[in-house]
Amino acid sequence: MKKKNMLILIAGLIGLFIFGLAYAQDDIQSLEHDIFMNRERPAAAFPHALHADDLGIDCLECHHIYKDGENVWDESELSDCTGCHSLEADGKKMSAMRAFHTNCKDCHLKENKGPYTCGECHPKKKK
Ligand code: HEC
Ligand code: HEC
Ligand code: HEC
Ligand code: HEC
Repeated sequence: MKKKNMLILIAGLIGLFIFGLAYAQDDIQSLEHDIFMNRERPAAAFPHALHADDLGIDCLECHHIYKDGENVWDESELSDCTGCHSLEADGKKMSAMRAFHTNCKDCHLKENKGPYTCGECHPKKKK
């Protein structure tokens, strides 16, 4: 291998390593949204990497921005669900709680995998 190619390869590997670190740090494990003041339930368990990477579920199953009825979401767009879904339903947009429950529970029931009882999704915090 030529020296220049070798350098490019090394630079690439370092880049991948840094990207991997940043990615791992960003890994979501649970959701606890500020809009729910006076929470009734503990934060919902949600391993993002398990869903997006290990199970390989299409990003668009959960993330969306609709333009002319088409889902045009990509990584550069808003991923925070409560950026659009508020406490109360608004026009076609369901309330935030319903949006989460519909998205999560419908798939778990359909796939017959993953939790679907309140206590499994909102586990008591370990003390
Ligand atoms: C099973 C549902 C689901 C899948 C599949 C999914 N996501 Fe997410 N993603 C979420 C939820 C829920 C959140 C948290 C949103 C919130 O807090 O309102 C989130 C958050 C994010 C965030 C914000 C991260 C942060 O640290 O704030 C990014 C970026 C993201 N997702 C990208 C992706 C990409 C890229 C894919 C596909 C490779 C993907 N997601 C697949 C549900 C999903
Ligand atoms: C950019 C604004 C926006 C964001 C961000 C957003 N939604 Fe939505 N969502 C909408 C709109 C608008 C609708 C209604 C679409 C329609 O029926 O025409 C909708 C509909 C839904 C529905 C009903 C079924 C469907 O897919 O149409 C669910 C469930 C849902 N959203 C969950 C989520 C979840 C979970 C997240 C975060 C991962 C999220 N939404 C992020 C705007 C948004
Ligand atoms: C499109 C399908 C799909 C959607 C949407 C989805 N899940 Fe899942 N989820 C799965 C599947 C499949 C499993 C089972 C994985 C297994 O057992 O191998 C799972 C497993 C889980 C688990 C158990 C993880 C473990 O360690 O066993 C939790 C917690 C979970 N999901 C939370 C959520 C939450 C919260 C949401 C909504 C923000 C959500 N899921 C949305 C498909 C989905
Ligand atoms: C598949 C997972 C899942 C199941 C099952 C589920 N939830 Fe949730 N729930 C969520 C997610 C995700 C959120 C939004 C993230 C958060 O907790 O802030 C949420 C939010 C909530 C909220 C708003 C926040 C709060 O604490 O005030 C309430 C209330 C709630 N859920 C009650 C319930 C009840 C009651 C059941 C059983 C009938 C239930 N959930 C079943 C995932 C789930």
